[in-house]
Amino acid sequence: MEGLIKEKLPKHVAIIMDGNGRWAKKHGKPRIEGHLEGVKSVREIVETARELGIKVLTLYAFSYENWQRPKEEISALMELLNKYLNDELENMLKNDIQLMAIGELDLLPTDTYNILKETIKKTKDCKGMILNLALSYGGRQEIIQATKRLVKATLAGRINIGDISPSLFGKYLYTAGLPDPDLLIRTSGEMRISNFLLWQLAYTEIYITPIFWPEFRRAQFIEALKAYQLRNRRFGKIPEQE
Ligand code: FPP
Repeated sequence: MEGLIKEKLPKHVAIIMDGNGRWAKKHGKPRIEGHLEGVKSVREIVETARELGIKVLTLYAFSYENWQRPKEEISALMELLNKYLNDELENMLKNDIQLMAIGELDLLPTDTYNILKETIKKTKDCKGMILNLALSYGGRQEIIQATKRLVKATLAGRINIGDISPSLFGKYLYTAGLPDPDLLIRTSGEMRISNFLLWQLAYTEIYITPIFWPEFRRAQFIEALKAYQLRNRRFGKIPEQE
């Protein structure tokens, strides 16, 4: 497995796919060309993750804050997403990949929302890997919606305040049922979380590479996984307790 230890692979990898715009600029192309090239990386990373046996891959495809981008860029991104979902359905079914999405999905354009829901439905019985797309996603927004539902359930008497714990709270998040990410990868060198999976990343190993997302392909992914396998995860304990 290209120098990787199978037993030490992360179960859940989350990726902040950053740098499409800078990649385009570097090549004297319009920003959308960067996103187009970024889709090729998405395909290659999904294929590699599935092949290696990673169980969950979460990709930050569109943040809640991305709604503030110019209208033309937003519609170009939505078009790319529609095309990706249409093109990939057959592949997902063939490779036993279940699609999932997290975020304020109601804000998506109707056609994107419909294709997304349709693909989720068609792949619901796939068991090989979960491809989880974060769309219109913000970590703070996710925590607020969880809190509102939890308060509602508490006021209605379905939950006792004393029973509210991290694991109960996790059940109200979009990621309910998924393990927390073991590894977070961020491309293009920025040292921040950008409102991504704020709750779930509590003990996640972080790997940041200066490479722009369109240049992040199989070899770079393997390198990130190797770096992860060298990490010593203690979850707040001392080495002797592991
Ligand atoms: C960040 O680059 C990237 C995005 C905001 C969108 C990511 C989308 C894709 C890779 C393509 C569509 C996704 C799927 C799943 C088919 P940036 O524009 O912020 O780059 P910059 O920081 O260099 O400007």
